[in-house]
Amino acid sequence: MAQRPFGGKHTEYKLSLVENYLDRYTTALKYQPFRLIYFDAFAGAGDIPQPKDVTQSLLPMGDYKPFIVGSARRALALIHPFDAYVFTDKKKANVDSLMKLREEYPELKDRIDVHRVDANTELQDFCARTNWRSCRAAVFLDPFGNNVAWETLEAIAATKAIDLWYLFPAGLGVHRQIGKDGTVHDTHEASLDRMLGTREWRDAFIDTNDVTDLFDVTQKQTSKVADPRSITEFMIGRMRQIFEGGVLDEWLPLGSNNVHMYSLIFAWANPGEKAKLASKLAKAILKSK
Ligand SMILES: C[S@@+](CC[C@H](N)C(=O)[O-])C[C@H]1O[C@@H](n2cnc3c(N)ncnc32)[C@H](O)[C@@H]1O
Repeated sequence: MAQRPFGGKHTEYKLSLVENYLDRYTTALKYQPFRLIYFDAFAGAGDIPQPKDVTQSLLPMGDYKPFIVGSARRALALIHPFDAYVFTDKKKANVDSLMKLREEYPELKDRIDVHRVDANTELQDFCARTNWRSCRAAVFLDPFGNNVAWETLEAIAATKAIDLWYLFPAGLGVHRQIGKDGTVHDTHEASLDRMLGTREWRDAFIDTNDVTDLFDVTQKQTSKVADPRSITEFMIGRMRQIFEGGVLDEWLPLGSNNVHMYSLIFAWANPGEKAKLASKLAKAILKSK
């Protein structure tokens, strides 16, 4: 299997939640006159292999699962399928696995596009070239780190037709990149600017105070004042400036061993009254967890 092992309970949790949403989404829009598209931008390999560690070897026979069913396979197995599927991943081995997965669904094969590309480039292109008068889409952004550029969120929001689940790396990608003393490595600064689409995070996450020492010399002292929760709220605030539908107040903290690494955020681009149904579905799913 091509995909490197990652995951665990929080991965299963996240994927079941998104699957649940997609199921309700395709059911609710079944009789609407739209071509429904699912875009899985960090699609992985279809399945996520699980390492068999010591703890798992103690599990009763049959409780150990060699893999978690990935987002792409879950989307293909929906009762009411999408009219089109776009799976992108930058890793060749994953794309090869996705091509094999496509063969497993002959009845859907013609609807599935698999591309080995950068998710940002392809998604921005997809948003620009699709006719949003006749199409609606659900997009899942499930990166490992700070891979989603702010311009990509802008492109999604501008369609006014996409529902988005975004696994935002609030802990792993933002909080951990800022030292307790407020220092940030140059490359991390650049990645935060790209992901958050603003330089304002510096003022929001880092405090600067004048400190006077024994010799009456005053110096600037910085310290980190953000945590993964406030970072998530900052991002939701940013996204609200571009998503005319909205961004849910409810979001889900995720990460292994109860460490808040990611936040699962739901946003919808369509400002219309009917599109509120999407947010109601997402809210109900988030509340049920
Ligand atoms: C967390 S995994 C996705 C897991 C997937 N949703 C699943 O359920 O199996 C992140 C994936 O993003 C891919 N990736 C990382 N950076 C990328 C980029 N810039 N463009 C496209 N794919 C990328 C990785 O190869 C990896 O497969």
